[in-house]
Amino acid sequence: MGMVGSALVAGCGASETEQAADTAAAGAGVERAAFGTLPDGRAVEVFTLRNAQGMEVRFMTYGGIILTLKVPDREGRFEDVTLGYDSLAGYLQESPYFGALIGRYGNRIARGRFTLDGREYVLATNNGPNHLHGGDRGFDKVLWRAEPFQNDSSVGAVLSYTSPDGEEGYPGTLQARVTYTLTNSNALVFEYHATTDQATPVNLTQHTYFNLAGDGERDILDHRLTIPASRFTPVDSTLIPTGELRGVQGTAFDFRQPTAIGARIAQADEQLRFGGGYDHNWVLDREPADELQLAARLAEPTSGRVLEIYTTEPGLQFYSGNFLDGSLTGKGGRVYEHRYGLALETQHFPNSPNQPSFPSTILRPGEEYRSRSVYRFSVES
Ligand code: GLA
Repeated sequence: MGMVGSALVAGCGASETEQAADTAAAGAGVERAAFGTLPDGRAVEVFTLRNAQGMEVRFMTYGGIILTLKVPDREGRFEDVTLGYDSLAGYLQESPYFGALIGRYGNRIARGRFTLDGREYVLATNNGPNHLHGGDRGFDKVLWRAEPFQNDSSVGAVLSYTSPDGEEGYPGTLQARVTYTLTNSNALVFEYHATTDQATPVNLTQHTYFNLAGDGERDILDHRLTIPASRFTPVDSTLIPTGELRGVQGTAFDFRQPTAIGARIAQADEQLRFGGGYDHNWVLDREPADELQLAARLAEPTSGRVLEIYTTEPGLQFYSGNFLDGSLTGKGGRVYEHRYGLALETQHFPNSPNQPSFPSTILRPGEEYRSRSVYRFSVES
């Protein structure tokens, strides 16, 4: 696995690779422990990844769920910048995809139906009339196998899951492998890989809810967001894209300059009304090359924390936590009120299996699905 970490660090800027302390020398490492038991008796494990800068990521094998992510503010104070629960029970009871790995298809498929090679497939409709995030028991609710690794520049784990033919209505046996890497330059890297024995849609992503102010104690409306995208995919009232790629110029969807999330969220705008705020896919301005490009920059003024996201994907779903309504009590007994967290999901566009004009999400036998996203943390003054 040595290559994985170093190639990824290089992708984020070679100078930091040189500056980064040596992982082993600084006492970084991976810990593995029991986290609980599923109702059917299977054991869930928790992995703690710690890098040479003291940044720490904990995730569990159920749903590949990121439990905590501790990053420093501008004073060097470490806080958890994600929403979620303290124990497995919370996730089993009810979770709006807190921290989860999403598959087989991240985001929505209209009416839970698509036709592929002349055959119609029927999926669960678990979000109004539509299919969302892989169905009733998506990749966020399965048990992954995880194997840790460590090298000079990073620590991490390789998660794997075999999704049987027909699971959640999808065709083909899908072998999925997702690598979580924490580098010494405070980047958390997600690498997705999959192969199949029958053609199937695949769109894997990660659904961590961020609040860079720390500990999910207030809303995210003061966070400054930048998305280098001159177009987005407008939706109907059930959040299915109409197929149009609409210019953001002059709208509340123009985040090409850093803008507070709350600045325009209450504008009278049909798209904001349909989403209950932001819950849309941006079409990233990018060359079609298979390279990492900036997808978003998120900055929180009081802590100085900054999150930059780079991806090989063509789209980014920005969800402003509109469905959080104070009904969920998370880590440390904190009540997650309206918009206390946000998600930035790198992805192909929603409903692509029914939208031939969108980049294809179909994986065929003999092909390899590969996708890579880097979530890099830093501070600004
Ligand atoms: C995605 C969807 C949202 C919502 C959240 C989970 O981000 O786009 O509409 O379903 O997941 O609550």
